[in-house]
Amino acid sequence: MHRVAIIGGDGIGPEIIREGRKVLEVSGDRYGFSLGFDEFDLGADRYLATGELLPEDTLKELGKYRAIYFGAIGDERVKPGILEKGILLALRFHFDQYVNLRPIRLLPGVSTPLAGKKPSDIDFVVVRENTEDFYVGIGGRFKGSQKATLEIKRELYNVKFGLDIDSDAEEIGYQIGVITREGSRRVISFACDLAKRRRGKLTSVDKANVLSDIYGLWREVFTEVTAGYPGLTTEFNFVDAVTMWFVKNPEWFDVVVTPNMFGDIITDLGAMIQGGMGLAPGGNINPSGTSMFEPIHGSAPKYKGQGIANPMATIWAGSMLLDHLGEHEAAEGVLKALGQSILDGVVTKDMGGSSRTSDVGDYVAALVRKQ
Ligand code: IPM
Ligand code: MG
Repeated sequence: MHRVAIIGGDGIGPEIIREGRKVLEVSGDRYGFSLGFDEFDLGADRYLATGELLPEDTLKELGKYRAIYFGAIGDERVKPGILEKGILLALRFHFDQYVNLRPIRLLPGVSTPLAGKKPSDIDFVVVRENTEDFYVGIGGRFKGSQKATLEIKRELYNVKFGLDIDSDAEEIGYQIGVITREGSRRVISFACDLAKRRRGKLTSVDKANVLSDIYGLWREVFTEVTAGYPGLTTEFNFVDAVTMWFVKNPEWFDVVVTPNMFGDIITDLGAMIQGGMGLAPGGNINPSGTSMFEPIHGSAPKYKGQGIANPMATIWAGSMLLDHLGEHEAAEGVLKALGQSILDGVVTKDMGGSSRTSDVGDYVAALVRKQ
């Protein structure tokens, strides 16, 4: 018996999560385990009505689950950043979901903008660090000449941070990236273990030639951790170059491990080469805590309620959720059914089809039931 927390969120979030849940429920019946779901009401509506983003008691409640199934957040009525930081990033940080696992895989029958590339050429995984780097939220803005002192304590690793700013500039904005040895070690270890189970190749992506303090530390840790995995082939790539190689030679990659912000950027590129945002899933993982699975696209408010949103990334994220819960056969089954739905042409408009959001969910669920 597994209990899963559900956060539909904003925009198309609730409609795609409904389809994902449908498929998960059927997979439980088919593969012999029971799944219970509890819905949590978070997002723009609640925020606008009550001013609440992520109340303490909700966090406490969510902490009882091993997995959260997350739709999307983001709404035009709310200033950009409030919901993203106050809900999505807050969940990732609070539950210390230090791995953001993003498979980049071209499924058969999906078209990629990369001419001549086949499914066997595009099959790698990005392991994005998910709690540090430029996402730590240390920054500020000043107008006019002033002196300011900033001290921020990151609860996570007990990092205390002090900064004096004495500025004569008309206006400045700054944002500081932080990498810790332990924060790097744990995510790089995760990536090594994953590479060991895959094709044995691990690429570190950074920008150590310019941001040499933070990514210099990252590289040092990468070298130390990978020394414990003599069977792996390892390499360093700079992030600018890797965007070029993702396009030119995606077949080169197996597992890519990278700090938070570069991971954010290169996984949108990855999503596009695997057939678009409608097909890109992600898992925010804390191997010993509460993890969270989501499509990596946003809430797409302009498509809300029209029944045309593509639920495939969400269904795929559901497969990752099952895998995380140890239901490997069911996870495989869901992904297989998703692939079959594509081959059968049961796809939404963004993938060139005419199926509705719920048609896709129904079809994939029916295929899982017949497995
Ligand atoms: C992602 C998104 C988020 C991120 C935003 C919405 C906070 O772009 O999951 O990739 O930057 O991590
Ligand atoms: Mg992103």
